[in-house]
Amino acid sequence: MTDTQASGWDVERARLTVDALARLPGALLPILHALQDEFGYVDDAAIPLITDALNLSRAEVIGVLHFYHDFRTTPSGRHTLQLCRAEACQSMGADALVQHVEERLGVAMGETTEDGAVTLRDVYCLGNCALSPAVMLDGRLHGRVTSERIDAILAAAVETTVEAPAGSPR
Ligand code: FES
Repeated sequence: MTDTQASGWDVERARLTVDALARLPGALLPILHALQDEFGYVDDAAIPLITDALNLSRAEVIGVLHFYHDFRTTPSGRHTLQLCRAEACQSMGADALVQHVEERLGVAMGETTEDGAVTLRDVYCLGNCALSPAVMLDGRLHGRVTSERIDAILAAAVETTVEAPAGSPR
């Protein structure tokens, strides 16, 4: 197994994905979505595959990749915590919650803890405005979240994670 496979990224699988979609009209977005669906993020090594297949410049591909908030360019941790930053949650203390979580985990929004346990991501409305501030951990919604509750939610998730041996695929 290669290093790229160990991190979930595989250039040959990525090439097949790019080639399968390259003939679609407006293929760039479908390709980026497909790569993210397959690998969890769009690796920098995908850029030359895309520029070659679509005859685009690197700047054009990177411009689109960074324009859309949903695309990720780094792999996620074992758990993903999304904190809502939209208006209703802002008015109910989302900023303080974000600050608390960043300090607690020692990483900023968009980053992953050094042990790979948790990735923090911004999200703009989880459809749970009546129960703001809202967060989503690994796809599960939580409302009226306080600092104490977020600590408990994170602790429970991290405790139940079975650590994979170093270097093994996730
Ligand atoms: S504004 Fe946060 S859930 Fe809608």
